Amino acid sequence: MKITILTLFPEIFHNFLKTSIINNIIKNKIVNIKIINFRDFSKDKHKKVDDYQYGGGGGMVLMLQPIVDAINEYKTKNTKVILLTPQGKTLVQKKVKDFSRQKDIILICGRYEGFDERIVNYVDECISIGDYILMGGEIPAMVLIESIARLLDNSINKQSLDVESFDNNLLDYSAYTKPINFDNYKVPTILLSGNHNKIKEFRIKEQISKTKKNRPDLLK
Ligand SMILES: C[S@@+](CC[C@H](N)C(=O)[O-])C[C@H]1O[C@@H](n2cnc3c(N)ncnc32)[C@H](O)[C@@H]1O
Repeated sequence: MKITILTLFPEIFHNFLKTSIINNIIKNKIVNIKIINFRDFSKDKHKKVDDYQYGGGGGMVLMLQPIVDAINEYKTKNTKVILLTPQGKTLVQKKVKDFSRQKDIILICGRYEGFDERIVNYVDECISIGDYILMGGEIPAMVLIESIARLLDNSINKQSLDVESFDNNLLDYSAYTKPINFDNYKVPTILLSGNHNKIKEFRIKEQISKTKKNRPDLLK
């Protein structure tokens, strides 16, 4: 998979791309990540990328020209162009799975007051990572990359993906490790029984009760 990130702050990604699984999957050529500073596409003599908004109001708005030129430079007919914005559809695991089947993605990171609204004519989807406002789209881009990358073939141990939160609209079951007793908080005895059917049953019940308690919205 190819991912091109359009950002004004490429340096934010440097350590991210050099760390842990992301670093491995880049080295193993499972994913190819390009980071582009869209300021380089500005035709302004001072490389300006933002300006005041029509109608008044605080904050600077990202101009179309540098971003649209950058999109056109990297887009092919198979590219999915994703705008990161709190005004987009909220990212959920089902959407992450859809994105993980793409071969080529462009992620556009905003800053300041956000984008000139006409940018929507040049993108395929607008994605938000939640109902809160960040300073820029770089962390949302990392959220997308991490969530997508772990689903790619040969990325992480396949067993880790067997049961996960949000599959079948349920949260994952609780996990425990050593010691069996910590501060008098004990591992449920059924998990020590070796009875796989009973353990499976226990975990499903647990998934349902935990989802009811923490995320009743998933069960609707
Ligand atoms: C300060 S925000 C702009 C917020 C915009 N004025 C609004 O209220 O909708 C600057 C940039 O950060 C990114 N951003 C902030 N919060 C985000 C979120 N929840 N999901 C995705 N991107 C976000 C977007 O790229 C956005 O253009």
